[in-house]
Formats: sequence, structure tokens, C-alpha cells
Amino acid sequence: MTQPHQDSDDLSLEDAKSQWQRLAHEIAVHDEAYYTLDAPTISDEAYDLLRKRLEALEQRFPVLQTRDSPTQKVGVSPSKKGFAKITHDAPMLSLENAFSLDDVWDYFKKAARFLGMSEETFFPLVAEPKIDGLSCALVFENGGLLTASTRGDGETGEDVTAGIKTIPFIPQTLLGPHLPGRIEIRGEVYLSHDDFVRLNQEQEALGARLFANPRNAAAGSLRQLDPSVTAKRPLKFFAYGTSLPLDGCKTHWDVLARLAQWGLPLNPLNILCTSKDEVIAFYKKLEQERSALGYDIDGVVYKINDLALQSRLGTAARAPRFALAHKFSAQKGQTVLRKITLQVGRTGVVTPVAELAPLTLGGVVVSRATLHNHDEIVRKDIREGDTVLIQRAGDVIPQVLGVVPSERPRGDPFVFPSICPICASHLERLPGEAAIRCTGGLVCDAQATLRLRHFVSKAAFDIDGLSIKHLELFYEKGLVRTPADLFTLEERNRFLSPPIESWNGWGPQSARNLFDALNQRRQISLSRFIYALGIPKIGEKTAKILSKHYHTYEMWRAAMSALNLEENNQTLQDLISIDGLGLTAAEELHAFFVEPHNQDVLRALVAQEGGTVFVEADPLKASGSPITGKTVVFTGTLERLSRREAKAQAEGLGANVAGSVSAKTDYVIVGKDAGKKAKEAERLGITILSEEAWITLCQPQG
Ligand code: IVH
Repeated sequence: MTQPHQDSDDLSLEDAKSQWQRLAHEIAVHDEAYYTLDAPTISDEAYDLLRKRLEALEQRFPVLQTRDSPTQKVGVSPSKKGFAKITHDAPMLSLENAFSLDDVWDYFKKAARFLGMSEETFFPLVAEPKIDGLSCALVFENGGLLTASTRGDGETGEDVTAGIKTIPFIPQTLLGPHLPGRIEIRGEVYLSHDDFVRLNQEQEALGARLFANPRNAAAGSLRQLDPSVTAKRPLKFFAYGTSLPLDGCKTHWDVLARLAQWGLPLNPLNILCTSKDEVIAFYKKLEQERSALGYDIDGVVYKINDLALQSRLGTAARAPRFALAHKFSAQKGQTVLRKITLQVGRTGVVTPVAELAPLTLGGVVVSRATLHNHDEIVRKDIREGDTVLIQRAGDVIPQVLGVVPSERPRGDPFVFPSICPICASHLERLPGEAAIRCTGGLVCDAQATLRLRHFVSKAAFDIDGLSIKHLELFYEKGLVRTPADLFTLEERNRFLSPPIESWNGWGPQSARNLFDALNQRRQISLSRFIYALGIPKIGEKTAKILSKHYHTYEMWRAAMSALNLEENNQTLQDLISIDGLGLTAAEELHAFFVEPHNQDVLRALVAQEGGTVFVEADPLKASGSPITGKTVVFTGTLERLSRREAKAQAEGLGANVAGSVSAKTDYVIVGKDAGKKAKEAERLGITILSEEAWITLCQPQG
């Protein structure tokens, strides 16, 4: 094994204890992020290093090795996400890691000593790619898939049967010889690179959280309470073993052959090595070819082939003594940072990007890497012209680790521009945030296309049949620049030459379908509308909260226009007192509404302001409203509400809105210059309300 990080010999037990506590806590936090939240916060290498440090401490101070130590556990307890628990037929173990060939030979020497054999013994080994996914245990009874579970804490995992059953790669029934009544198959669920990229594109279009890497995407996809979500994610599976020995199998290689006979998918690269040279050749070949495989692997697993020896070797605390993971080193390399450019995302976050002299890392040409944010550049003192160290770990986006000292004179420290490279709006940094943002909103081309994508996405306007490709083409041609343009497209198309239906790939039917889809969305709920605007921090949930609180577009718009960030601002106080809303959301709303071009977008879009889309009021709870069941008539010009809005609001409260006054009318609401209908109401003795009185009556009671 790599010599673990040894602390100096004069470390007292007290100091060791406090170091141990810190490390154990840190590991627990990372475990939670990785296993429960599917969102790791550090690289695998950094994590392994923490574990090694802990192991080293425990080696020197064995009293620290308690049963609760992370060194004695695999993973974390199943999450509280709502999955049932399944106890594995036998514990699901982890693997020891080796980072060099010397580590590998040392490990098997130790195994030989354990067995009382010569250290020079070479054990025939099965070498398998170590798939970077999540392990699963599939239980088949009488050939049928009964349950499936994640590893969890090794003893008990989460019941993901419903999700697993949606994976076409996994047979629902095993067929073939020697099938036991009950068998637990172990293997790895994973997502291919292509599918990962596609999934993240979809996530982005939906404004949903992006996955850090294919492994987390696979875990996040499987650990869905709703299996129909899992069904849409193209997960795959490789089997690599069973929980208990199989009758008639003397070697692991026999076991793999049996699994294949039963119809389980096996990695085609698995091989049986009968010499050290074969082991070395396989590792090198895989390391070279890993980037072309199409899915992530992070090393090679060696398993002693002879099952009798496996059983004699048994297991140590958390890993078997007969198997070892030989990890690949993270793919690192040096190159020159030619330039630092800025990339603008949908919400205007400006990410600095390193433009690199191209280098090949693990078979992939890398010419750009993320610099994360301004603070990172300052912290690492990265400058244009520097030689930098690049890493491609499990994650797809390469990172700049730092500057490699060189003799060459250095350039000036990087100055983060104060204006957006795309639209020249000023950049700002919100207090407490590392990110710097472009304030250009929808006038910023970079943001505009991404925001348009968000605007038409499923949880927003949900415009069926408008692909991102089409949207980008419309944008490029200047046909659709802001959301409102979508709703005048049909009208303008009549004067287009050539019209959309004559474009390549279009026809009268597809153009008609698009216009129909758009027309169907001319009427939109307030919550979808607010969400569609793509205001940072205003996701689906917050949009719903706002819609419930303000009920109508007019009310919301009026409040937002009155909003400022001074402490005594009534709207601000009102806003932050809403359950589920905080100051950050209020700041974002304010930032959005003070930008004049955002106001333009709203005006162009909303029918009440002369635009094209009608925003429906959020229906108030009908019960308990004095209006429920009443028949009302509006007459004259209303000043604070549009007619359509007033009607929708009344209907939302369970009233009937009539066009003329009769004996059945309960209320007549009179606006300015009311005429005949008001007189008729007076004559019939019907309650007449001013617009103000009506608005008060509509307010939620209590
Ligand atoms: S054997 C007793 N074989 O690696 C050991 N594991 O770091 C059982 N993994 O939890 C694991 N590919 O999720 C084995 N070909 C392979 C594997 C593999 C990936 C994962 C597995 C395990 C983890 C241990």
C-alpha cells in the first residue's frame, strides 16, 4: 500500500484524538454528501487521502479504532428519503485501494503470508474494470427479480426495486442451468457519458440541478421515489458477483460464466490473468483506453480466482482480503494558460474559463478548463501566460489545480472585468456570494438564449414541439429575441420570406403544430409565469409561493414595483414574512424589477400591459369567501384591475360573472363612467360596490 501519511512521532494521544475527531467528522460529512445527497463535495482522491490519514492515526493509536470509526464502516445508513430498507443476504463490502503496482504486489504478498504460502506465489487473478457507478444487490427467487437494493451501510440498503425494474438492461427473469431458488446478484448501475451529457442538457432546460458526474447522475436517477422518473434515465448495469458461493463453481471466472449464462450483462473486458505481466498489460491498456470506453471507470479490480482461497482469506473490517481495487491516478497534465475568458450562464453568473494550449489527458484533448470563480483565481494567483496544472478526475469538466512555478516572467494579476463581455452591462457581486453576475438580463445574448430555453421548458410555458435547436435558430435569425416574440411569431411569419413552413426540415403541418402549441399557452398560470421569467433563486416552489400570496399578476407586479431593499419598505417586510421566502429571493426580485429591459419584457408579454399572454390569477380557496356562489356583474372602467383579471379573480373565488344585471344578480361592481347597468342595479335594489370595495371583499379572510 502507499505509505499512509505518517504524523510525527511525538504526537500525543490527546492531539491524535482531536485530529481523529476532526478527520472522522470531515469524512462523515463527505459520506453524507456522497451517499445520501448524491452530491460529493470533494474529489475521490482528496477523500481517499482523508481516509488514509485516519487509518494511519488508528495504526499508531489503536485505542482510536472504535466500532463507529469510518474505517470500520462502508458507506452510510440508508437515507431517510422514504425508501423501504432491505437487509442484504450477506454484507456488501468495500474494496481496499492500491495506487501503484508495488501496492498491488504487496497486497497479494500479504494474502500469501496469511495463507502460509510463499510470498512469491502468484495467484491467478480475474481483472475487471472498476465501474464508477453505484453498487446494487438484485435478489432473484425462482428466477424472477424479487427485490433490488443499494449498498447503504453494507448491511442494509434502500429498496430500489421499482426503479431497477425499469432498466431494460437488467433481466426480470433469469434462465439457464443450476439456478438456485434464491440468489443475490451484485453489480454496478451506471450511466454512459453520452447519456449523462444528454441528461444534464435536459436538466438545464428544465432549470433543474445539474449532476456533477455520471456516477452522481446514476445514483440520483435510481434513488427516485417515482420510478417513472428512473424509467426516463437510460441506466445500465454490469454484474460482477454474487453474495454467496454458487454450487459447482470453483473459481470466480466460473461464477462470471454462470452469470452470463443466466442472461446477466457482464463487462466484456473482464479477463483472467495468469501472470504478473498480464495484470500489468491489462491495467496499462485500460488506463490508456478508459476515455474511449464511453462510461467512467476509476481503476481495475483484481480478485483471486480460486474460490477456496477466497473463502480461506475471508474479510478484514470492511473489505475482503482476496480482492483489491487498483485505482487510476487522476488524469493530470501541464500546459500554458493562454487566456482567461468569461462564460455567461442563464442567470447571468459569469464563470471564468481557462483557454489552454491543448493537451491530451487520458486520451481526450483538453483546451478549456473551469476556473470556478474570481476568488479561486485570486486564491491560486492564476495569471494569463502561466503554466498550469490541469486535472480531469471523474468529472467531465477539467479543472485548473494551480500554477506550476516557472522561470518565465509572469503576466499581470488577472483583473476581473467590470462589464459583461457579451452585452456590456455591468457585472455585480451580490453580498455573500462567490459568483459575479451580469446584470444585462434578457438583453444579454448569452443569457437570452438560455433564458428562452428556460422560458419554454416543461415547468414554465411548456411549449410542446419547440426544440432547443429551433429556438436557437429563431434567435440567430432575429425572429425570437425575447419571450414575447414567441407569441407574435405566427403573425410575423405571414410576412416572412420564405415563411417557416418552407424552411429546411419544416412543413405546413409542423409549423401549424408549433403555432398551435404556442397559442395554447397564451393563457398561463401566475406561478408558471413567474417561474418562466428565470429570476435567479425563484424556482418553481418560490414562484408558487409568490403566486399564492399575490393571487393576480397585477397585484404581484404592483408589489414588485413598490419593492426596495430599505429596511422600512412595506413590500419588503411583507415579502420576507411569507413562509418559504427569504431576503435573497427578495433581493433577486428587486434586482430583476429595477432593470428597465426586464420591465419591457413584461410589458410586451402580458395582456394586461398590452402584450400577448394572459396571466391567470391563482385561484383563491373558494370556501369561506363572501363571493363564493354569488352572481356578479362588472360595469364601467375598472382602474386597478383589468376586466379579464377581475372576472378571473371572481371566478377563482367561486362566483359567476354575468354580462347583464337581473334579479339574480348579487353584486354590481361599478367602475368609472358606469352607465345603464348601474342604474338598473339601483332600480332592482342590488348591492352596488366600488372597485375598492370589491378588492377588499376579495381579500383572503382571517
Ligand atoms: S467487487 C467484495 N467488482 O467498487 C467487493 N466492485 O470500492 C465487492 N465496483 O462497492 C465489490 N466495479 O460498487 C467489484 N468489477 C467490480 C466493480 C466493483 C465497481 C465498485 C463496487 C464496490 C466499490 C468498492
